[in-house]
Amino acid sequence: MASVKFPYKTVKDISVEGKQILMRADYNVPLNEDDTIADDYRIVASLPTIKYLTERGARVVIVAHLGRPHDQVELKYSLTPVAERLSRLLGKPVRFVPDCVGAVVSTATRNMKPGEVVLLENLRFYPGEKKNDLEFARHLVESTHAELFVQDGFGVVHRAHASTSAITKLLPSVAGILLEKEYVAIKSATDSPNRPLTTVIGGAKIADKMPLARKFIQIADNVVIGGALANNFFRRAGRDIGDSVADDGVEADKLVDQILADAKAKWGDATSEHFILPSDVAVSDDGSLTNDTPRHEVGLSDVHAPAKIYDAGLKTMDKLDELVAESGTVIWNGTLGMAEYPNFAHGSARLALALAKNPRVVSVIGGGDTADFVRHWDSLEGGSFTHVSTGGGASLELMAGMDLPGISALEPKQ
Ligand code: 3PG
Repeated sequence: MASVKFPYKTVKDISVEGKQILMRADYNVPLNEDDTIADDYRIVASLPTIKYLTERGARVVIVAHLGRPHDQVELKYSLTPVAERLSRLLGKPVRFVPDCVGAVVSTATRNMKPGEVVLLENLRFYPGEKKNDLEFARHLVESTHAELFVQDGFGVVHRAHASTSAITKLLPSVAGILLEKEYVAIKSATDSPNRPLTTVIGGAKIADKMPLARKFIQIADNVVIGGALANNFFRRAGRDIGDSVADDGVEADKLVDQILADAKAKWGDATSEHFILPSDVAVSDDGSLTNDTPRHEVGLSDVHAPAKIYDAGLKTMDKLDELVAESGTVIWNGTLGMAEYPNFAHGSARLALALAKNPRVVSVIGGGDTADFVRHWDSLEGGSFTHVSTGGGASLELMAGMDLPGISALEPKQ
């Protein structure tokens, strides 16, 4: 697979030695009920850029968000636990400042030593962040004495916020190592894949997946639709889907029709060979969904209320195994069933294993839930996938070929 070039400047294209740097990371990590970190994948992914900068004597002030606070301080969304974990992972102190603008930040960042790292409190405690407010961005720059902005929060570059967009109007702005890696992995798979390219879309909301489905039909040799998304197609084809989850009526039907029209325009009579829906499914007979709900494999004509479809069936999984083995590249976004429940994780698990067993196949996996799910296999097999994205919405939009404001605002490479 030819690697797509990253068209923006990165930390490696400029002099960072001795500079005061404002770095955006995506530390929107899942927390346990006791507010400890449930998964530090995004923190680990930010280490290469931090190390690159600090090893060159830069002073690094990191800004990030956590959760969706309502434009005010909500302590459950404090980045304090992230500072502790980051410090442990870096093996050196990370000073945490309980605000992201103002006098306390200015004092804490005024006399930083070369190689020092400071993490500021959640940007979303201020309304200016999500409003992409230039004055808030200016306040950030002035409070942190920053000379240079480094964007490394890949997971948030689909948002036009103060720390992804407005800030780039005030400081020279370049990408970090993670951002470049994500861009190159995802764009190489979509724009210059080893063929055949198989794309798999799961998840629930058809409106959210529409741009991705249309793009995949355009670029891929095979498109597989799974998860609750597939229920919309079954219903449109007049099948009984029992009490299964599907999007609401007319609007969803229009989107299904558009996707089917795209597939027909591309593959004509051979549509069903390349546009693949589950041929069988697994249901919960009474519609319940718990860790103990029994899995029942059924044909598509055997789904009736109160049953609910929660996973792809065995024949579908066999077909996916074959498809993966024949593919040069697989791009996967969205789990194939209710993968957080062990009895309905079989479809996603079989696909993850098929990819892990075929290291020849370039595999690029994105979408928050899907990435969380496959990382289990990644750690078991010691790196079974070509790329597991840290982005949810950002990876979906980049895969769909959309413009990401936090990337296109960076300085282009000459
Ligand atoms: C994510 O978790 O996908 C990013 O951190 C963006 O978060 P948001 O969807 O709350 O903007």
